[in-house]
Amino acid sequence: MKVTDINGYALLHNGIKMPYIGLGVYKTKDGKEVQDAVTYALDAGYRHIDTAAAYFNETGVGQAIRRSNTPREDIFLTSKIWNSDQGYDSTIRAFNHSLQRLGTSYLDLYLQHWPVKGKYKETWKAMETLYNEGRIKAIGVCNFLQFQLEDLMETATIVPMVNQVEFHPFLVQQSLLDFCNRHDIQFESWFPLMHGFAFQVPAFREMALRYNVTVAQLLLRWNLQKGVVIIPKSIRRDRIISNSHLFHFNILPTDMQKLDDMDEGLRMGPNPADFNF
Ligand SMILES: NC(=O)c1ccc[n+]([C@@H]2O[C@H](COP(=O)([O-])OP(=O)(O)OC[C@H]3O[C@@H](n4cnc5c(N)ncnc54)[C@H](OP(=O)(O)O)[C@@H]3O)[C@@H](O)[C@H]2O)c1
Repeated sequence: MKVTDINGYALLHNGIKMPYIGLGVYKTKDGKEVQDAVTYALDAGYRHIDTAAAYFNETGVGQAIRRSNTPREDIFLTSKIWNSDQGYDSTIRAFNHSLQRLGTSYLDLYLQHWPVKGKYKETWKAMETLYNEGRIKAIGVCNFLQFQLEDLMETATIVPMVNQVEFHPFLVQQSLLDFCNRHDIQFESWFPLMHGFAFQVPAFREMALRYNVTVAQLLLRWNLQKGVVIIPKSIRRDRIISNSHLFHFNILPTDMQKLDDMDEGLRMGPNPADFNF
């Protein structure tokens, strides 16, 4: 992934360009709150929005996109299938419902939200069908560990294009990242700002000060330099703008290593090997 400017992208293994900066809208309320956030992001130059059926804000995301001056085809729009909808027929139904709420005829990326045991292979088959019908430009997964990816790929006819996982300096998962890179599965991080916890970590503050950037900019840039796509969430215009100002500095290899070395395997979210929802 070549890091250039806000228009930069990761090239997926099917040739689709995925902008490497997107806006995440988890815990953003449907209606005005999400509409405003998406509008601020598009105005700031973001061309990638990450939502999910489980965020209950697809309607507002779709309204903001339609009201914007940015053509739909210039926006990379992601949604996700929720766990209770997994299975072949239910995936097709859930996908159609997401499209209806978003008010769009296709998705750029559709992801399985969690690897639901006993279900994710059937779900994947349905996603392959939708992809082959041209209704989704790329398909992928979230929260898959290596053994789950290997299991899925045993029967899949299409290798997932993306794996979106919790990823920050306290949870680097270098071997999973290396595995995905080997198989051309684009790594994408959730909780890149540790869901807000990052701002309480003195070591991040000290390093950010040295580069004269915010803690958010430091961590987001660390992701990009590791080849990872980012979808930081904010509902504030000033933060949405500053979270995309990542191209006036470069983290030195020694500092990249220092951030990598903070890995404690600390999950702020559920463990994909052991979740019960
Ligand atoms: N696939 C999955 O299972 C999964 C799971 C979780 C998340 N995600 C995706 O990943 C996205 C990002 O994760 P996240 O939203 O949970 O966490 P995050 O991006 O790590 O952190 C968001 C938090 O940081 C605050 N924030 C953002 N920019 C800031 C800045 N510059 N300075 C200070 N505070 C700042 C936000 O508050 P304000 O809004 O008040 O600014 C919010 O509280 C989600 O929105 C979602 O799209 C996916």
